Amino acid sequence: MSHKGEAYSASGAIFLDNPIRRLIQPPSELIDKLGIAPSDVAVDFGCGPGFFTTELAKRTKKVFAVDISSEMLLKVKNKVTKAKVANVQFLQSDGKNLQLEDNSVDLILLVTVYHEVGDNEAVLKEFHRILKPTGKLAIVEVIKKGALPSAPVQIPEVLKAEIETEDFELQQMRPYKSYGIFLFSKKA
Ligand SMILES: C[S@@+](CC[C@H](N)C(=O)[O-])C[C@H]1O[C@@H](n2cnc3c(N)ncnc32)[C@H](O)[C@@H]1O
Repeated sequence: MSHKGEAYSASGAIFLDNPIRRLIQPPSELIDKLGIAPSDVAVDFGCGPGFFTTELAKRTKKVFAVDISSEMLLKVKNKVTKAKVANVQFLQSDGKNLQLEDNSVDLILLVTVYHEVGDNEAVLKEFHRILKPTGKLAIVEVIKKGALPSAPVQIPEVLKAEIETEDFELQQMRPYKSYGIFLFSKKA
């Protein structure tokens, strides 16, 4: 269980990466909807135990797996090692000071993370800095009761307005199961 500004506890990792979630929500199904290219550099922000990390890494040039929690990073490292995926770099960060170059990233993916990020304004500014002008910020949140019981249900219009305040523009909102996949670009 987690609240705004408070990381998902590592003991909850079992709810995030297990055969049931894999069956009802295969990582590839969501990743298919992001429009990624093999040359992409991606950030799996709030990667947790790595439910999406290995699949994302298989389809892109490089993935930065970022989490505030050292325990989650240990879990994702084990998972990536087992999967023999070599293009993942791990960063422990709360998102306010990412050790990544300006305009260097094609995709920033947050799956049920945004509602937990403490200082949204600072983190969105940092996303804006590292994202290429052609890059995408993909925010996936629960918009209908049912998906991840611990995640709060978001109001799409409120989420859109909050993120657009930080110089992003919503390009598309795709419903997926109980989630909304919000794809933002930097404002031109
Ligand atoms: C609900 S879990 C989702 C994990 C993964 N995206 C998934 O769908 O399986 C949220 C994750 O975000 C991380 N997190 C929360 N706030 C964060 C922040 N400010 N910076 C980096 N990671 C954060 C937590 O530690 C946790 O691993």
